[in-house]
This record gives sequence, C-alpha cells and structure tokens, in this order.
Amino acid sequence: MKCVDDFRLRFGNRELVPIVIGGMGVDISTAELALEGARLGGIGHISDAMVPTVSDRRFQTQFVKEKVKLYKYNVANSDKSAVKFDLGRLAEATHNHVSRTMEAKRGEGLIFINCMEKLTMNGPRETLRVRLHSALDAGIDGITLSAGLHLGSFALMADHPRFRDAKLGIIVSSLRALQVFLKRNARLNRLPDFVVVEGPLAGGHLGFGMDWAAYDLRTIVTEIHDYLRAAKLDIALIPAGGIFTGGDAVSYLDSGAAAVQVATRFTVARECGLPDAVQQEYFKASEADIEVNTISPTGYPMRMLKSSPAIGAGIRPNCEAYGYLLDGSGNCAYIKAYNREVAAHPGARKISVKDKTCLCTAMRNFDCWTCGHYTYRLKDTSRRLADGSYQLLSAEHVFRDYQFSTEQKIELP
Ligand SMILES: Cc1cc2nc3c(=O)[nH]c(=O)nc-3n(C[C@H](O)[C@H](O)[C@H](O)COP(=O)(O)O)c2cc1C
Repeated sequence: MKCVDDFRLRFGNRELVPIVIGGMGVDISTAELALEGARLGGIGHISDAMVPTVSDRRFQTQFVKEKVKLYKYNVANSDKSAVKFDLGRLAEATHNHVSRTMEAKRGEGLIFINCMEKLTMNGPRETLRVRLHSALDAGIDGITLSAGLHLGSFALMADHPRFRDAKLGIIVSSLRALQVFLKRNARLNRLPDFVVVEGPLAGGHLGFGMDWAAYDLRTIVTEIHDYLRAAKLDIALIPAGGIFTGGDAVSYLDSGAAAVQVATRFTVARECGLPDAVQQEYFKASEADIEVNTISPTGYPMRMLKSSPAIGAGIRPNCEAYGYLLDGSGNCAYIKAYNREVAAHPGARKISVKDKTCLCTAMRNFDCWTCGHYTYRLKDTSRRLADGSYQLLSAEHVFRDYQFSTEQKIELP
C-alpha cells in the first residue's frame, strides 16, 4: 500500500516531502505552522496578507497606528482615494515578517510566501512590487502568486537578483488561466517552477463563480497535466482543494502530481493562528454549516462557516487603518454597500450589511471563518475531550498523518 512518503518533490537537486501547507491569510498560516512544514521536510507558507498588522501584533511595531494617525482626518469620509500605503513602511513590515521566519527555519524543507494580487492596496502595481521584492530581499525560499491572474507579477520581479533562483509559482483554477499566464510571461524566459491547481473545494477565495460545484479538481488537474506533457513544460504540478487524507494525496501523486497542497486539516493545529474558540467552531461544523457566498469585496466567491461574525456585520469601513482591498482608485465594494445601508436607515445606531463585508477588519479580528469544504470532517481527525471540546492537534501530527497513512485512514492523536 503506497503512502505519500514513497514520493518526493524534486526542485533542482533538492528532494522534499511532497506536502505543501497552503498559505492562509491573515496570519492563519503562521510562521510557526510554516516552520513545522519546513522542519518536517515539506513546504510551509506564510502569507503576506496585511503584513503591517501582523508585524504590529507579533513584533510590537506601530505601522497601523502610524497610518491611522496620518489619515485620521479622513475616517468619516467615504472617499478613500487619499489613503495610501507608505511603501518604505510596507517594505519594512514584509522584511520583518519574512526575515524572522527565515532565521527560525530548521530542517530540509522550504518556506514560501503566499501573495494575493487582489490586495490592491490603493496602488496595485507599486505595492505588489514592494511586497514581492521585500520578500525576496528577506530571503524567502519561494513565492506563490494567488488570488488573481498575476499577468504582470513576474515582470515586477524580473530585475531582482533572485528572480531566477527563488522558487516562483502561481495558483490557477483552470488550464486557460495557466495558458494566459505563460503566454504573457513568455518574453521573460523564465517558467514558473510550480503551478498549484486549486479546485472548488478549497478554503479562502475560489477561482470559480457561484457555479463552483460544476467543476472538479481531478478533471482540471488531468487537463493541465496533459497540457504540460504535450508542451514539454517542466513545471511541478501541485493539486489543492479537498485533499483530506494521505490516500487522497497518493491518488494525485500516482497520476503525475509533483506534490499536493493542503490547508483545512491544519486549521485545527495548535500552530495555526486561529483562536482556540474558533478552532472549536471548525471542529463542530457540519456540512450544512458551511457556505460559499459573495460577501468578499474582492468579487471572488469565498467559503466560510455560516456562523462567521463577519456575515451581516455593519461596521464603518476601516480603510484608514487597513485599506488592503482598495482598488487603484480608492474604491472597495464594501464602502458602497455600507453607504447604501446608512442612507437607507437614517439615524440608525447600528446597521447590518448583508451583501458585503469589511474583509480587512474581519480577517484581522478572525471574524471571517473561511474554511475548506471538508471542514465538517475535521471532527473525525481528533478526539473529543471530557468537556465536549475537541483536542487540538500538532502540525507535526497532521503532517505525518498525510505523509505515512494509507488509503483513507486518519491517525487520531
Ligand atoms: C482558513 C483558510 C484560509 C485560506 N487563505 C488563503 C489565502 O489567504 N490565500 C490563498 O491563496 N489561499 C488561501 N487558502 C487556500 C489554501 O491555501 C489551500 O490552497 C486550500 O485550502 C487547499 O484545500 P484544503 O483546504 O481542502 O486542503 C485558505 C484556506 C483556508 C482553509
């Protein structure tokens, strides 16, 4: 009976356990979680979502306070176009997060950073360039481009001395998206080292419409696998989304995948950034408690627990503090939805906004409980304690279960 450990992910002359712990913003895939992935010989991700905020929490910096002070005058204004990120500060925050993680790295594995294009930060090109360059400067092993087509992201890094040695890849949900990316970047003469193919059962934002249920990961992976072979492209293929057991992983590795990317099983690991009480919500969830909705201002559907406090919350937009989803003109779909509700309920002390959420604030406060489709199976991966709660797992336990279990078996702690 085969297990994941019978396979290796080959990157140049490096051999890795073919398990990638996916990026989970905002600080859900913590440095601690990523470091465990690397220590155990696989790949762990940190995320560059809202890094100034994460840096404040972890390293007692004052990036958010400084930004709020600067733009305090604008808090009651619905025009957020003036609220810009200081690029020097952004570089500093990213450098803090990445360099401290890399200094703590042990073992043979790698640490990548997940970089979402949809964090347009009221200056899409310049902020993305700073984020990518700072991560490379700070010694990150690799970058996973996500939440967007990233047609210009390789070009933004092309003048960086590490452009050809860092491991660079992209997340796609269709062959078409990969082909467009490759075509656009052909002139740079630098293929991605890997492509994560994310299917509709993943957590976070989905690269599908609300018809996500009509798609399936296996079909998309097969299409992309056949294309890469036919075009003789040496790009590691990494399926993601709903790979819940070692057996699931083996079935992909056996049919040509270089590794698998997984995340949901790690949301109930102690090293994960979610607060303990939220982790219990993930354990308790039944299938009916999970939905894919359109409340993210990014325009992408997102999967989450229906009980997420972010759903229906009507807080004032917090762009002076955060503002990560402001597009290049300072707009965010939440601001519009919020203003509409305020206008419809004059004098109301509290309003509810149902169709969009202030995602920056919600993610910052762990109030948007985004999760993968199989979150309802997490209860089968642990033990129930005498007080009715579930035992949190160690990242090592989950990693090793993927690595060594066979068939659909799941090792309990
Ligand atoms: C809580 C959570 C947060 C996530 N956040 C992000 C993110 O910020 N960026 C991203 O590219 N993918 C994100 N994902 C997707 C994962 O990186 C991964 O590709 C996917 O969830 C794998 O499927 P699985 O969760 O079924 O194992 C997130 C997933 C979860 C469960």
